[in-house]
Amino acid sequence: MTRLIFLGPPGAGKGTQALLLAKDCEVPHISTGDILRSAVAAGSELGQKAEQYMSAGELVPDELILDLIQERLGQDDTKAGWLLDGFPRNVPQAEFLQKLLDQIEQPVDFVVNLDVEDDVIVARLLQRGRDDDEESVILNRLQVYRQQTEPLIDFYRDRQQLVSVDGNQTMDVVHADLKRLVLE
Ligand code: AP5
Repeated sequence: MTRLIFLGPPGAGKGTQALLLAKDCEVPHISTGDILRSAVAAGSELGQKAEQYMSAGELVPDELILDLIQERLGQDDTKAGWLLDGFPRNVPQAEFLQKLLDQIEQPVDFVVNLDVEDDVIVARLLQRGRDDDEESVILNRLQVYRQQTEPLIDFYRDRQQLVSVDGNQTMDVVHADLKRLVLE
């Protein structure tokens, strides 16, 4: 049983590492960013509402995200565990998740904070070039991260659920560190 949350700034490697570790642990990788990008690509009502926020590097309003995550964590493939990537993103989302997990009796094992320096992040994201990887949007995503998401480090540290991993290292080294942490 593996239930992990990945925290970290944009470009920290949350998606890359969560995907690898989800395969190792044979649990679903649940990325709110991927779910939202699929909704935008499909032109669904959710996608139409989310698109303007995503392209500006702002968080999508909580009311669009909370139902989505509740529904996803209620699906059958999550019974053996899950890796959450990109959720929660602010304290209200973390409090919502805590209540939901208490209700469905699925406690988090721990919360991985991928720690990466700002200049490394900007270089990685400019090289990748996703729609929201334009420099001014990257800088706004970083600012939004500092203001709204970074407080979750203390939120989970206070609950003794936080572990930090140095995300500045190569992908293979970060993956090996995470495997040691989760599987040993
Ligand atoms: P989301 O998709 O979650 O984007 P993000 O947090 O900005 O994260 P990224 O996907 O850019 O980075 P990552 O940490 O996953 O790194 P990755 O592995 O991709 O969210 C996008 C938007 O959706 C948000 O801005 C918001 O609008 C909305 N949203 C999503 N969730 C939300 C929520 N809960 N509430 C409200 N709004 C929400 O790696 C990045 C690059 O670096 C890749 O090219 C990768 O190959 C490379 N790389 C990774 N690791 C390494 C390494 N160790 N060395 C060298 N290169 C590396």
